[in-house]
Amino acid sequence: MTAHDTRAAAPKALTLDDCAALARERVDPAVWDFVQGGAGEERTLSRNLLAFDRVCLRTRVLTGVSEVDTSVTVLGRRWAAPVGVAPMAYHTMVHPEGETATVRAAGAAGLPVVVSTFAGQPFEELAAAASSPLWLQVYCFRDRSTTRQLVERAERAGFEAIVLTVDAPRLGRRLRDLRNDFRLPEGIVPANLPPADYSSPSGHGRTELDPGLDWSVVSWLRSVTALPVLLKGITTAEDAALALAAGVDGLVVSNHGGRQLDGGYASLEMLAEVAGAVDGRCPVLLDGGVRRGTDVLTALALGADAVLLGRPVLHGLAVAGQTGVADVFDILVGEFEDALLLTGTRSAAEAGPAVLEPATAASAVPESAAPAGRPQAPGVLRKEELHASVSDPVLDTMNFLNEVTIRYPEAVSFAPGRPYEGFFDTEQLFGHLRRYLDHLAEQGDTPEAVRTKLFQYGPTAGLINGLIADSLREDEGIDVDPASIVVTVGCQEAMFLTLRALFAGPRDVLLATSPCYVGITGAASLLGIPVTAVEEGPQGLSCAAVESAVRAERARGRRPRALYVVPDHSNPSGTTMPRRAREDLLALAERLDLLLIEDNPYRLVSTGERLPTLKALDTGRRVVHLGSYSKSVFPGARIGFVVADQPVRDAAGAGGLLADELAKIKSMVTVNTPPLSQAAVAGMLLAAGGRLSELNAGPAAHYGEVLAAVLEQLERHFPEERRRALGLDWNAPSGGFFLAVEVPFPADEAALLRSAGEYGVIWTPMSYFYPQGGGERTVRLSFSYLTRAEVEDGIARLARFVEAEAAAATVAAAVHDGPGR
Ligand code: FNR
Repeated sequence: MTAHDTRAAAPKALTLDDCAALARERVDPAVWDFVQGGAGEERTLSRNLLAFDRVCLRTRVLTGVSEVDTSVTVLGRRWAAPVGVAPMAYHTMVHPEGETATVRAAGAAGLPVVVSTFAGQPFEELAAAASSPLWLQVYCFRDRSTTRQLVERAERAGFEAIVLTVDAPRLGRRLRDLRNDFRLPEGIVPANLPPADYSSPSGHGRTELDPGLDWSVVSWLRSVTALPVLLKGITTAEDAALALAAGVDGLVVSNHGGRQLDGGYASLEMLAEVAGAVDGRCPVLLDGGVRRGTDVLTALALGADAVLLGRPVLHGLAVAGQTGVADVFDILVGEFEDALLLTGTRSAAEAGPAVLEPATAASAVPESAAPAGRPQAPGVLRKEELHASVSDPVLDTMNFLNEVTIRYPEAVSFAPGRPYEGFFDTEQLFGHLRRYLDHLAEQGDTPEAVRTKLFQYGPTAGLINGLIADSLREDEGIDVDPASIVVTVGCQEAMFLTLRALFAGPRDVLLATSPCYVGITGAASLLGIPVTAVEEGPQGLSCAAVESAVRAERARGRRPRALYVVPDHSNPSGTTMPRRAREDLLALAERLDLLLIEDNPYRLVSTGERLPTLKALDTGRRVVHLGSYSKSVFPGARIGFVVADQPVRDAAGAGGLLADELAKIKSMVTVNTPPLSQAAVAGMLLAAGGRLSELNAGPAAHYGEVLAAVLEQLERHFPEERRRALGLDWNAPSGGFFLAVEVPFPADEAALLRSAGEYGVIWTPMSYFYPQGGGERTVRLSFSYLTRAEVEDGIARLARFVEAEAAAATVAAAVHDGPGR
């Protein structure tokens, strides 16, 4: 195989191309073909190389730059240069010291290694030899437990991230291997996989790797590891957007060194498209064809955070083991340093498009992601050129529910979270307006001043802040200055303003309960803010879950900025946090320097004991409190508010309140909240002396009765024995508009369409509310809009649907298991 005995006399390589030439002389021709074509189609490598060749860098002179900083920080860890080792199978094939030699050389150079699923040496030995970050590359096997065990083992050994290769099922035909009928040399086996026949790498891949993966694999991977998850093999803006929506921590743009269906694109061209779509929201790495220091700088200038180096590492290893790999790093990082110096760039972090000669750079950005080969009719906009959020499934959920409701008008709908209309009275609206206008006159406003208030643009922060502050004091024991309140167009705007102000950069992450109201995850998606889910228990959030999420995010190099929480009768789960948990959460927020975004729209329309809000308990100004009058007054008013009493100071020590900053943002979003709507809500607040809880005593009793009816009807159709036999269960919230029913079949959109079409009952798939997967067998029932009679009819229909689905699932399972089992 390799001529290791002649290695000592190896002439020293000055470039990575020299190194490849030396390696070629030393490696068995079939192994050489496996390495060179090992990643697939032969033409791709030359295409990747050519794309780098086409781009010219701009030499700058007299820049005064004599030293440069090549280091970068990726996922919170410093790399000595923006270069890591790409995952490659069987380093042992080109040198007996295999991956250990690579890992040692990388450690000495301060560079990370992505270890392949098919590493020829055990993870534990590699971890013991490592002094720089190790990541594990995984393929998803048909038998998921194989992948899970790899991940768990690597995590235990101290690996720091998981890279899931997603392009494997579509790899090109390995032409050279087919010609050579390539078999792995005797003794070359994967050291971390169960025994099997690995002799034909492509044959093994075809039979063992799962070809039918979809985006749910990301949440599955998250469910088996707390490590950051990156995807390798992303090549388009659309997939980058979906990957972000799925919650990945990073992307590796890669054509795996070669694929058949890559449309003639080089890795560098794909980078421009993907980095544009990601827009700094997660690290983007590039591999495929990096051979010179200028290539590294070019990749950075086109949006990569770092590159991964593949075949040159194996070349160095073949030539001189650990020393050979060390030489490869020396050459590449030395050239990168020169490239920084010659372009007058002080540090890797500063490398941007300015270093590129524009005409040649355009060749790597094919008409800014409008490449030839993907023709588009004139006047048609490309979806991938719109903001990534428009491809986020969360933004479609409400539309889908509306469409189902319109398509099946006869169905009983447990979908909308709307208040019951029986308490609305059109005529009373005029009385509310009159009352507020009289109040203004009593406060000394002239008729002209009143007219101006109603007809003109108003103060951005709102007209009725004083009345809201009074009402919060009366009803909730929340004592805040009206100046800390901004009146918004619904609570949705309050969420938007709060997120915009608090989240400063791509490292800031929002923690949200899972399941979670889609309004907040949707707003985060619009703003490009990453969301990390914190699982709710039966009593809402637990502090332990919040703390471990914060720590995991910090370990990934991200800043958990705030946690979104609905403490009472949460939407969608209906859970309520006990008082003790609220106090603990505030103490935890203080200790971890975390803000809490409290949303609490249901408590004033619920009966029973009202625990204090987080804001009422907040002595350290940790809580930004969102308010909504949609449930307690009426949603058509579109009036919400935010209490943001946190002081803000600039570098000189000057400043006001967070509310002032929110008002600034609002001035560029909705300018001000419609005065007519504010007047109507104010009239109702005045009528109740600020006590919305009293005003809502009737509606709250009604919602309580309807909730009781839902529970009673569920019990009637599914008495304990039956529900146990079916595997059915539901929770019993103490108030609010929602409850959750676990069902024994996938509660997906197809099931919803069957339910609406065949049984005349509509519900919401709970999976809509899980930011990172979950709730696949749970439905949300919203009952607020219905009467008792509708509930009886609707639950009877639901029961028929559930029984039918459960029976179908049992039949399907029996067919699948076959006779005799
Ligand atoms: C690879 N590559 C690869 N990728 C992966 O995700 N898992 C793996 O096990 C392997 N194995 C592998 C073996 C060999 C011999 C080669 C050459 C490549 C692909 C690799 O990570 C990278 O995408 C390509 O090699 C492109 O980079 P270079 O080689 O052009 O720098």
